[in-house]
Amino acid sequence: VKLLDALACQNRKRPPIWIMRQAGRYLPSYKALRARYPLIDLFHNSHLAAEVTLLPLKEMPLDAAILFSDILMVLELFGCTVHYPEGKAPMVELPSGVQIEDLQATAAADKLSYVKQTIQLLKPSLNVPLIGFCGGPFTVASYLIEKNHRDSLSATKKWLFTDPHAFHQLLKKITAASIDYLKMQEEAGVDVIQIFDSWAHVLGPVDFRLCCLDYLQEIMAHLSVPVILFCRGSCLRLAELAALAPAAISFDWQGELEQIAGQMPRSIAIQGNLDPDLLRGEISILEERAKELLLQMQGHPGYIFNLGHGILPDTPVDNVKRLVDLVTNGCVA
Ligand code: CP3
Repeated sequence: VKLLDALACQNRKRPPIWIMRQAGRYLPSYKALRARYPLIDLFHNSHLAAEVTLLPLKEMPLDAAILFSDILMVLELFGCTVHYPEGKAPMVELPSGVQIEDLQATAAADKLSYVKQTIQLLKPSLNVPLIGFCGGPFTVASYLIEKNHRDSLSATKKWLFTDPHAFHQLLKKITAASIDYLKMQEEAGVDVIQIFDSWAHVLGPVDFRLCCLDYLQEIMAHLSVPVILFCRGSCLRLAELAALAPAAISFDWQGELEQIAGQMPRSIAIQGNLDPDLLRGEISILEERAKELLLQMQGHPGYIFNLGHGILPDTPVDNVKRLVDLVTNGCVA
């Protein structure tokens, strides 16, 4: 299978392609389902979640499926309720009378058994690998702490820099819950795990190590399937991320993959890194940039084509199809 071959840095064929947030709002078939069900129902109902996972694969020959869920579902293990107000950042509600410091997790097999069931429903119908996932503990913590989640994460960092002990206690709890959750996903049959530490870029090098890397390493130590690490700012943290020896690192579009490939150990696969905004522009510019990327990474046995971050809402689905077509037909020239 192409994705697994690339993750083993042994792919001799064209690069595999999948797209971060591929089951999202740009898909008309997804929008139709969302008009009928609240988002949280799509996450909680295994049959619906399995159906949504398969939607993009029905329209395009993608080389992987990613489980339809959200990185914040892990907070349900702590008794939290996650709200997704339309057009705004998600909001996390604590169990009544409980402070963040006092949160205690229950077992994933109880509270998140619906995710296990989704994976079990999906596995027999898939002919491509299934990617399971979780959020990086720092990123998940930020959604718990921020009242109004936006670019600076000022409340999260204020907490980190005033009471680091309590902050790290929280990261430890989220790490333990994430390990439990990911092991459940592994047992249910996911083939690959991607960890999204989407907000890692707000930290300087020392705090990135203390708040992100150390916990990512702890999580990885408990897993047996190949792990892809994603964080924004990855181009700046190449050596530190490579030192964790994940199967792959997913890069944002700030760096040039050819140059990154030259600095990476050949045993680590490289995923990325097309600017998601290109998919909302002129098709000729999209094709030009995609071809440049394919050419740069041509023959690299560990290259996985993807975007530098999740696909944006309002992306024309035809542009996505063109991109997938370009990569899967191996048109480099
Ligand atoms: O890739 C996929 O299609 C699988 C599903 C998936 C979702 N969220 C579904 C979702 C995945 C992999 C995620 C990861 C996720 N969720 C991340 C990490 C990746 C990244 O983009 O940085 C983060 C930070 C979240 C938290 C989250 N969930 C936010 C900020 C939002 C609201 C805005 C947004 O990005 O869509 C969500 C809601 C959410 N999660 C939707 C979906 C499909 C929105 C759907 C809708 O409005 O119908």
